[in-house]
Amino acid sequence: MKFFLDTANIDEIKDAASWGVLDGVTTNPTLVSREGKVDFKARIKEICDVVSGPVSAEVISMDYDGMVKEALELSKIAKNVTVKIPMTKDGIRAVSTLSKQNVKTNVTLVFNANQALLAAKSGATFVSPFIGRIDDVGNDGMSVLADILEIFKNYDLKTEVIAASIRHPEHVRQVALLGTHIATIPYKILKMMFDHPLTDKGIKRFLSDWEEYKKKFS
Ligand code: G3P
Repeated sequence: MKFFLDTANIDEIKDAASWGVLDGVTTNPTLVSREGKVDFKARIKEICDVVSGPVSAEVISMDYDGMVKEALELSKIAKNVTVKIPMTKDGIRAVSTLSKQNVKTNVTLVFNANQALLAAKSGATFVSPFIGRIDDVGNDGMSVLADILEIFKNYDLKTEVIAASIRHPEHVRQVALLGTHIATIPYKILKMMFDHPLTDKGIKRFLSDWEEYKKKFS
């Protein structure tokens, strides 16, 4: 299973990369807007200098021509740029064109299995179902994800599934159990995955027992 970091924050990316568990990064316009006044393309380049795996950068155009133009520009920033394209008719048309030109794509804003199937048929490299946002509207994100994985397996589709909109560590456990190829995880949640109170308690106990041992025997 691969872990991507869902952020445009360079410090978070550097920190997660230093743990040796980071396989890629996903950004979106909301995440970039949280960074204040940054040059979007320069930030994507900076991220690509830190992470050798796929780095998703999203187009803003909503029409086919604009999406293809933007995608080609973004893909020139670095060889590991993956262009994120929204799940619309123009988006899928753009992905079909781009996949023939070997531009890597990530179809975003996917909320059901049929949308994911369309993305795979258009030749998308990745498809991103938004688990948390599906839960937010009272549906079950995990069962949508399970359907997508089963359908892709039925037809041996090569598109990799990125579980996105991850809201808590339990989501990560659940998407891993389903065999999802990738989870894109916010930094705060990736950090939470390290934690267990018994780990902290265990460390405290080991250290205090060691102090006792030193007092007694040295
Ligand atoms: O990768 C997509 C993700 O950033 C959306 O997450 O929490 O805004 O639904 P969220």
